[in-house]
Amino acid sequence: MHDFISDPRFKGIAPFDRKVWLSSPTMHGDEQRWVDEAIQTNWVSTVGANIDAVEKQMAEYVGVKYAVGLSAGTAALHLATKLAGERLYGQARPNHGTLEGRRVFCSDVTFDASINPVAYEDGEAVFIDTERDTWNMDPVALERAFELYPDVRLIVVAHLYGTPGKMEAIKRVADAHGALIVEDAAESLGAKYRLNGQWVETGALGDYNCISFNGNKIITGSAGGLFLTDSKEDADKVRKWSTQSREAAPWYQHEEIGYNYRMSNIIAGIIRGQIPYLDEHIDQKRAIYERYREGFRGLPVRMNPIDFENSVPNYWLSCLIIDEDAMAPQVRGEQDYLYQSVPGKSSPQEILEAIAAFRAEGRPIWKPMHMQPIYRTHAFITTEGNGRGRSNAYIAGSGVDVGADIFRRGLCLPSDNKMTAEQQDMVIEIVRRCFR
Ligand SMILES: Cc1ncc(COP(=O)(O)O)c(C=O)c1O
Repeated sequence: MHDFISDPRFKGIAPFDRKVWLSSPTMHGDEQRWVDEAIQTNWVSTVGANIDAVEKQMAEYVGVKYAVGLSAGTAALHLATKLAGERLYGQARPNHGTLEGRRVFCSDVTFDASINPVAYEDGEAVFIDTERDTWNMDPVALERAFELYPDVRLIVVAHLYGTPGKMEAIKRVADAHGALIVEDAAESLGAKYRLNGQWVETGALGDYNCISFNGNKIITGSAGGLFLTDSKEDADKVRKWSTQSREAAPWYQHEEIGYNYRMSNIIAGIIRGQIPYLDEHIDQKRAIYERYREGFRGLPVRMNPIDFENSVPNYWLSCLIIDEDAMAPQVRGEQDYLYQSVPGKSSPQEILEAIAAFRAEGRPIWKPMHMQPIYRTHAFITTEGNGRGRSNAYIAGSGVDVGADIFRRGLCLPSDNKMTAEQQDMVIEIVRRCFR
């Protein structure tokens, strides 16, 4: 690793006394009260007042009728995906998933937890390329995907870094093909989108909706997630599946496969204490985004794009993307990388190393799912159709792959809401000096 501390480009900059995080939990004190109350009243289980309060308050906040507390966003996504599979293709036998032999169209630039449940249910994810306006699923590529795979009836869509995707267009394509939508709002709790002229919270935009309270999210319980829906039947089913699928019998009686996915009342206590601070956290994250945007003026970089007309993001993570002509050479292997320092240019790996040397945490853009070794054999659809094998020995191919391009040129910046303005100014200065 390069010695940034003694590099003359960074003269006068000292490492932070305490590490500046990408996005860490921010406790306020109320969390302790609800956790203590659960312990004092002996509700140390997967039932209790904290779970009830979290479900009620979050359903109200997001604007859905029902919320079901689960152990993680991943658990919510699994049961949402399974519900969709069962509605589309019927109940599966115990050693078969509900999506066996079926393809599902999935966001490509997202965390793998969004789309792994398709594999849990024995389905095959087909990855849909990303658009440049919000860095989410491209509705044009989605339409292409239906031309290639007209039988598909399920779409899993995520809102990356808290910025809502083009849901109106995505829903129009889904409706035209009779497809259901699993919405992954894990990163976007509190973000809104204007759907057909009406402002709707993310987490209320799909047929099955999920959020996460993982430790890095905008509010957290250390873990936890919610399944959100307007359907009582779906909410009841998820509650049943998440508590081992017990039938109404005096003994343990099972007609369906069960899961131990219910939220703990202790974790719900932490979440309950965080809910009043959600809007405050969003305000802090917005200020961070705006300070970066100002601070980078004049540099050959742009912030992660937002469709301000149709969305209000939660600004969970601030990101930048380097202009193509300011990209210094950088190559990435499966687990390592090399880059070259070039005057006036830089690369994500150089910037990430530089800020890490001064004790600030950034991260590469989430590596697209179609580039992951585990999903390398799955189809990938771009605005031009099939995104795999586009060249031959004589033709270079057009190479449209927006996700790969954002991954190559972009990075996530320290976005912790406890970062001070002075600390952020220092991060901005380090990024500036990378381009010297
Ligand atoms: C987009 C996305 N989906 C799903 C998850 C999974 O949520 P959890 O960690 O609560 O299981 C995460 C993050 O953790 C995420 O960022």
